[in-house]
Amino acid sequence: MPVQQPSDHFLFVVAGGRRDGNSEQLARRAALRLPTGATQQWIHLADFPLPTFTDARHGEAAWQPLAEGPGRALLEATLAATAIVIVAPVYWYSLPASAKLYLDHWMTWLRSPGINFKARMAGKALHGISVSSDGDPTLTEPVKESLRLTAGYLAMHWGGFLLGAGNRPGQVMTDAPSVAAADKFFLP
Ligand SMILES: Cc1cc2nc3c(=O)[nH]c(=O)nc-3n(C[C@H](O)[C@H](O)[C@H](O)COP(=O)(O)O)c2cc1C
Repeated sequence: MPVQQPSDHFLFVVAGGRRDGNSEQLARRAALRLPTGATQQWIHLADFPLPTFTDARHGEAAWQPLAEGPGRALLEATLAATAIVIVAPVYWYSLPASAKLYLDHWMTWLRSPGINFKARMAGKALHGISVSSDGDPTLTEPVKESLRLTAGYLAMHWGGFLLGAGNRPGQVMTDAPSVAAADKFFLP
């Protein structure tokens, strides 16, 4: 009897200052080609306002169990996924603050007792989907590399970086190279 493999479950974490922008539209196009049988969940970080990150790694206070709220919901969605896709426009050659804050909270989850975050993240995939004004990859290395190196730190698989070009919402979908790259992004 063949062993049942858990099917892929993709969590799309959408960041940035507007909804249904270029990054999300490009990601939704790419998601049309997810592996057969894969499930998907979409989260906009604006709907999960995280508290300011506090670095309590070396403090005296004991770690508290994670309270119910946006952080707990994001943690559970993150752990439930086999692949996490950060969908984020390029802001100042970098990730938008909401995406960065989400990743900063990974450090809290790494240190919180009873979660076993590091071991449970190992082996998941991390992908990045982004749009910048002109789609110049030489200017978006910081975004790609911060995600790729974060994946490495957590022993995740690096799933690659999809970069599109566009400025006004929807403009990326009129850029043929961006759309062609999206159509290939999740293909094996
Ligand atoms: C705060 C801010 C900073 C930006 N910084 C850059 C940048 O460094 N490089 C760039 O090419 N575009 C930059 N842009 C343009 C956006 O990346 C571009 O408009 C993108 O399409 C927005 O994606 P969205 O529609 O998913 O929000 C910036 C836009 C904003 C609002």
